[in-house]
Amino acid sequence: MINTVSASSPVDYNYLRQLVYEQSQNVLDPSRDYLFETRLAKLLRNQGMSHMRDLIHLLRVKRDPALERSVAEAMTINETSFFRDGRPFELLRSELLPPILDARRSTRTLRIWSAACSTGQEAYSIAMLLLEHFPHLSTWVVRIEGTDISAEVVHRSQQATYHRIEMNRGLPARNIVRFFDHHGEDWTVKAEVRKLCNFRQANLCANQLPFSERFDVIFLRNVMLYFSIETRKKLLANLHRLLAPDGLLFLGSSEQPADPSLWTSTLAGGTCYHRPRKPS
Ligand SMILES: C[S@@+](CC[C@H](N)C(=O)[O-])C[C@H]1O[C@@H](n2cnc3c(N)ncnc32)[C@H](O)[C@@H]1O
Repeated sequence: MINTVSASSPVDYNYLRQLVYEQSQNVLDPSRDYLFETRLAKLLRNQGMSHMRDLIHLLRVKRDPALERSVAEAMTINETSFFRDGRPFELLRSELLPPILDARRSTRTLRIWSAACSTGQEAYSIAMLLLEHFPHLSTWVVRIEGTDISAEVVHRSQQATYHRIEMNRGLPARNIVRFFDHHGEDWTVKAEVRKLCNFRQANLCANQLPFSERFDVIFLRNVMLYFSIETRKKLLANLHRLLAPDGLLFLGSSEQPADPSLWTSTLAGGTCYHRPRKPS
């Protein structure tokens, strides 16, 4: 039995921030400590607790890796939407993908990674784009891998069911009609799209990346902003090794490659994409 802690002792947010950093490399700003209260409310309830101090005490004495992971996962920001930012998808379709497909004519394989995929909309957007605009890929081996550190969002990606409010963000009506089945307020991605996508839990900052086979396109969007400069550098160096020499990297609209010597960045169609440079 774990003793509870005096209600008058201050909440040690520093401990929680450090724990989150160790688990996910997400750097949390102390000005946002108030977020712990709301984000950890469910976890607290599941532990039969009502005070953050008790949870911190339990974490300290038990050092339970599963509980520590749950805290870090609960603190992730999972904001996403279908065809988020629009332009990278448009550029991929119109200019960037055709030459890659041309170069893969003999192997007829295409590998795309939605790294930090959240609830799966990014991966499914890519799959819909391929089905709609590159029908000849039906005879190819096409894999879209989605990974995220949060087990909960990976599960939701696998469920492939979205609420009306999520559907109203970024999805053209023709895609809704063609690629979704409707039940009440919910819409489920059709098997034709789902079968191109595979989701699994993975920490991008673990010592080893979850794949060893190269990718043709990597989407790493809106996650590096939570990492320190050092973590970003290490991650991008690892991704550089995992991207085909003629492959493409998309970052979020406010993100840049941490080490420009590894990447050639091009601004086109109102968005920026990055190609791996040969290390000198
Ligand atoms: C804001 S969402 C971005 C989703 C999508 N890429 C997009 O741009 O719409 C950030 C995601 O990064 C995930 N994440 C945070 N730290 C991570 C890590 N160390 N490894 C893998 N995923 C991580 C979070 O769980 C969250 O789902």
